[in-house]
This record gives sequence, C-alpha cells and structure tokens, in this order.
Amino acid sequence: MPIFFDENKKTFTLETAHAAYQMMVDRDGFLLHLHFGDKLGGGSCAGLIDAGYMDFSPAPDIEGTNRTYTLDLLPQEYPVFGAGDYRSHCMAVTLADGARNPELIYASHRILDEKPVLEGLPGLHGACETLEITLRDRWTDLEVVLLYSVFAEYDAIARSARIVNRTGAPIRLNAALSACLDVPESGFDLIHFWGRHVMERQVERTPITHGKISVDSVRGTSSHQHNPFVILCDHMATEDAGRCWGFSLLYSGNFVACAEEDQSCSCRVTMGINPTGFEWRLENGESFQTPEAALVYSGEGIGALSRRYHKLYRRNLCRGEWALKQRPVLINNWEATYFDFDDDKLVKIAEQASELGVEMLVVDDGWFGNRFDDNRALGDWIVNTEKVRGGMGKLCERINALGMKLGLWFEPEMISEDSELYRAHPDWCLHAPGRGTSRGRNQLVLDMSRKDVRDCIHDMMYTVLSSANFAYVKWDMNRHLTDVWSAELPADRQGELYHRFVLGVYELLERLEGEFPQILFEGCSGGGGRFDAGMLYYHPQIWCSDDTDPIERLEIQYGTSFGYPISTVGAHVSASPNHQTGRVTSFHTRGVVAMSGTFGYELDLRKLSEDEKEQVKAQVKQYHKQYSLINDGDYYRLLDLTAQKDISAWEFAAEDGSRALLNIVYMHVRGNFQPPVLHLRGLTPDASYRLTEDNGREIGVWTGAALMNAGFRVPRSNACYPAGATDYAAFQIELERIG
Ligand code: GLA
Repeated sequence: MPIFFDENKKTFTLETAHAAYQMMVDRDGFLLHLHFGDKLGGGSCAGLIDAGYMDFSPAPDIEGTNRTYTLDLLPQEYPVFGAGDYRSHCMAVTLADGARNPELIYASHRILDEKPVLEGLPGLHGACETLEITLRDRWTDLEVVLLYSVFAEYDAIARSARIVNRTGAPIRLNAALSACLDVPESGFDLIHFWGRHVMERQVERTPITHGKISVDSVRGTSSHQHNPFVILCDHMATEDAGRCWGFSLLYSGNFVACAEEDQSCSCRVTMGINPTGFEWRLENGESFQTPEAALVYSGEGIGALSRRYHKLYRRNLCRGEWALKQRPVLINNWEATYFDFDDDKLVKIAEQASELGVEMLVVDDGWFGNRFDDNRALGDWIVNTEKVRGGMGKLCERINALGMKLGLWFEPEMISEDSELYRAHPDWCLHAPGRGTSRGRNQLVLDMSRKDVRDCIHDMMYTVLSSANFAYVKWDMNRHLTDVWSAELPADRQGELYHRFVLGVYELLERLEGEFPQILFEGCSGGGGRFDAGMLYYHPQIWCSDDTDPIERLEIQYGTSFGYPISTVGAHVSASPNHQTGRVTSFHTRGVVAMSGTFGYELDLRKLSEDEKEQVKAQVKQYHKQYSLINDGDYYRLLDLTAQKDISAWEFAAEDGSRALLNIVYMHVRGNFQPPVLHLRGLTPDASYRLTEDNGREIGVWTGAALMNAGFRVPRSNACYPAGATDYAAFQIELERIG
C-alpha cells in the first residue's frame, strides 16, 4: 500500500522504494505540497512549512482580515492563475462571466489499485496504485481531478490533471499543465537538453536564479531544439550523489518546462502543454485531460535517476510485443542509396547483409508514388512498381528467402503539393484561407485533427502493410508546423488545433499498431526531433539523430541517456567519411558507438573491404552476446561530457554484478597526455573480474572494489584495436566475474 491518507492531519503520503511524496489539505482546503524526497520515516511534515507573511502577497478571502496567510508563498500542488499566487501556474481559465480567479479547494479523494488509461493519450502502465484528488472552485462547480500513480520500485509518480466543467456554462482553458513541484529552497541547477537537427539533446546545466528559466516548443512537435525532459538538482549533485528530480512529459507536441526561483527564494518547476498557442473551449459537462508527466526522484545522484527512468520506461511505458523483445540488427538503405534504388539493388544489399549476419532490411524513403527526390509524392502511399517491380509482396518474399525480415518507411503526417493526394484534396493541409503556406523540405503538413484525413492515410498504409509480411515500420515526420488552422474548427476553436493534431497522430498510431501488433514501429522526425516519452508509448525505439558520425553521436547519445533507455535509441554504423560531417573514423569505433543503442547499419555493405566485412560479422555476434547487458543492465556515465570532450566512457553492468561492458572512445587525441582514471560501477566489491578486450586480448584480473575505488586508467589511444587507428580510438572491454 504505497498511498496513505492521515485523516487527522489531512496528509497524503505516497511511499516509494527510496522516497516519499507528501501533501496536505490545509485549514482553508487548499492542497499544499509538503515533500518529494528521501523518506520521512513514516512521519508527517505538516507544520514544518507554516505560511509566513510578506508584504504585497495577498491573503485569500476565506482568511478574512488575517494578513499572515498567502498562496503566494505556500507550496502548491496545482497552482492556478489569478487567485493570489503570482508564480508560474498550472491552470488558467476564463469562466463564462469573464472571471479568471478560481480557487481550487479539496473536495474528495479516492485510491485506485490500478493505473487509469488516459483516453487518447500515452501513459505509464502496469501494477500501481493511483490517488485521485478532486479539487473544486470555491465559487463554482469547476473541478480539477489530480491523478498520482505511484511506481514505487522506480521512485516515480505519474501526474496529470483532468479539468471538468460543471459550471453550467462553457469555459475557456488558457493553460492546462500537467504537474508542479515546489521545493522551498534555493541553490538548484536545471539540466536540460537543447539541440538542432543533427545535434539533438546537448546537455546544458544552468543555475536557477531569481526569475524563470523555461525550455519549450511551439513547433507543433516536441522538437530537436528542446526536449520535454528536465532535471532539477542540487547545485552540488553529481552522477553519484545529491538530490535530483526528473520531469518527463509523455507528450509529443508543444510543451513547456519552467523552473522559477521566487521572492522567498523557493523553487518551483512546472511542466505541461505550452500555453502559447493553446486555448480550449470546454462545454458544460466536458472534461479536458492533460498529458501525463513522470516525476522521478533520486537522492543518490543523476546516474541513479537515469537508471530509474530507464527501467520505468522500458517496463512501464513501451508496450506491445517488441517492448522487451530482442530487436533485429537492421540494414537501412537511406545512406546507402538515398532515392536511387530499385528492387534488385535492395535485394543485392540484403544478400550481402544476410551473409554478414544482419537480420532485417529497411526500405527507407523513395518506394512510393512519384518519389524520386524529396520534393514530391508525400501522401501517395502506393508502391511505385517501376522501382519495386512486382510490389512489396514480391520484394518481401525475396528478402524473407534470404532469412531476413523486411521493414518500410512512411511519413504519414505530410503531403507534397506535387502529389495525387494534394491534387485531390488541396484543403487537407494546415493552412489559413486566403493566405500562403510555409514550406519545409518543400512539403506541407496534413491536418491530422481531421478524421477524414486520418482515415485516408490509414487506408493507404493499411493496404501496403497488409500486402506483405512486414516486420518493421519507420514512422518519420520531417518538418515542424506552421499555418496551424483547420477547416474543421470554428474560429474560436483554432487554439485547440496544436493539441488536436497530436491527439490525431496518437489515434492513427494506436489504430495501425493495434492492427499490426507484430510490426516493430520505430519513431523518427528528421532523426531525433520527436524523441519524447509520449512517442515511446507507441514506438519502443526512435531514430536518435540523422547525424550518424560516431563522434557527434557520442554527445547526442550521452544527452539522450539522461532520460531514455538504451533500448529506445536507434543507432547505426554508417560510411566513412561520414555523410553529415566528413569525419573519418574506424569501422570499430563506429561499431562501439552504435552498439549502445538498437544496432544496425546504414551504408552499402557491398562496398566494404574484406576486413570490414569480417568486422561486421564480429560486431553482430558481439551485439547478440551483449544484448541483455546493454538493454537490461544498469547504465553508468563514467565521464562528464560537459566538463571535458576528450574522451567518452560509459559502462553497462548486470544488476547482479556478474558481468559488465566498458566502452571508451577518444574524441580528441592530445599530445603528452595522461588518460584519465575511470571509477567503474555496479561490480561486486570482493569478487574478481577478468577484463578482456573485444579482440580477445586479456587485460588482467582485479577485484570489483579495486576497479571501482582505485579505478581503471583509460588505455592509450595508440593501444587500440585495430592497430594504428589512433584517431577516435575505441575500446570495448568485457568484465567477467570469475570468483
Ligand atoms: C529523415 C530521416 C532519415 C531518412 C530521411 C528520408 O531525415 O531522419 O533517416 O529517413 O528522412 O527522407
């Protein structure tokens, strides 16, 4: 029973493996936040945070002439705009009479022994208890139901809010965020993940000072530029020590995450749908469900926080047959052929791939309609039989005959002006009447809020997917939204369209994935432009970045690892010189980096040297051997890439300490240089471990304690395998517990 209600003290306590979340109903009925952090020994924090007094912070009406109580200072569970708390808020509404100051007070609560499904939205699933607290406006029947689902093993609380209009008249939601966390202290940092196309999720750590720091998206998707995952942590927090709180939004559209330090030097973090561009008309009797935010706490540093997210998301977010199943090693033809392919060329690539042990061919962009380049044909999801003679069924038979599976690329949310679909339905794209539309990659965005649009795309995709024995789909999305106007919505509801777009995409995903449960869906948006926890509910893996340069990938995958499991990170070995950067790296280095993800290849394997082909065979074998360690093991970042960029080092350790895999890549070789010492993690202190390189060379035997406490010096770059490749040298070292 992780959820307790103390009737006398009016406190709710949510207990997890290492933490406690506590809140209370105060004397006026307001729901105050008390604590989310290390355990409380079964006790209550009530009385420890009594309201202070501050000039220019008003008292609510219920307090009469008492000046010493103000919502402006008290920690809140769901702060509301307009009623005396001037800090960042979760909700802003305009009631029918124009009033904008609801006062939410406790009405009731109930405890459920399950995780409610949020209709039309992604959500965590699995065994848990859920606390539902209903708050009601003191003056009207506007209700807010706060949901807290407790995933105790991972110190995770899934939060969301359902706003129910029982006021008897329509209301307007101006903001409806998912969660708020008040910590009445200062001295925190915000870690967030910024980026751009081919450079996603760069780690930035910023001290939180007075005022607000917010990261957000108004691009219609979660975006490459910011990620809906942030960490609040003690200024002194490291990988191994300190308090930290993760905020991860299960949502793929416009979002905001805001950290604020207020006049009393308290910190507040809010997260949810971005109010910019959002407005929702809620009729009497209707409700609005916010997306879910997964809050995780660690008092043992940022590394433990990441490991909790990894396990939570792998087991309680990703769904379906493929969530935990071993993924096939794939070859994707994009960087091998771009648009220049036909069925014979694909089969030749597959023949070579299957000889080397690769398990699946993915046919990327260019198999449909008149798609000979990226200026046309999006929306025409009909096989181009000049390129794929005999259709997909025939191609699939040829690929299956090689013992390989077949996968296919789609970009369902898009339309090209030069397409049959556009000629038939020029009004199906997002556009405002009488105005021009912005093009991105020369394409327009379909109005996914419309059922007729979704049905048409669904039917085309259904026909193709039923025409062959497909094992995989890559679901791409290659531009951000503009001209967000829908012919289906009245003028005063256009503010709903960004969110309705996301709901439409989720509905189409849900439908197709339900119809093809055997298919592994991989998400993509110009690489990792929609790498968020919302999408992971539908796709257990997402193409992490269009940048396949292993050295660039080190930083991208490092940033991604803070909030997302390794099993979700699409990573491929591509050609050298690299197509995005021109950088030359060894085949070995490319393999070591891509193996820390859902492994595959993205180059013409026929063009490899015999030695490289042997390396492919060895890499596939090694990936299979290490699969469970990489995907189910504990992941440790051993060097901080924000502090130095010479070397990247990370480790996977089996939960029982029986095995580990150490990965090291030189990003910058320096002269007269002492490589750093790595303190390994997750080993059994008094057991002995044999260290062996992936080329079979034995390095030595040491105890777990020696490797963790004294450390292991990074080998010199010129000692790497294959010999001579000192630029961007990579080491993959296996640790085996031998007694
Ligand atoms: C996006 C994807 C790539 C590839 C191309 C095809 O950029 O991220 O992997 O599929 O589209 O156009």
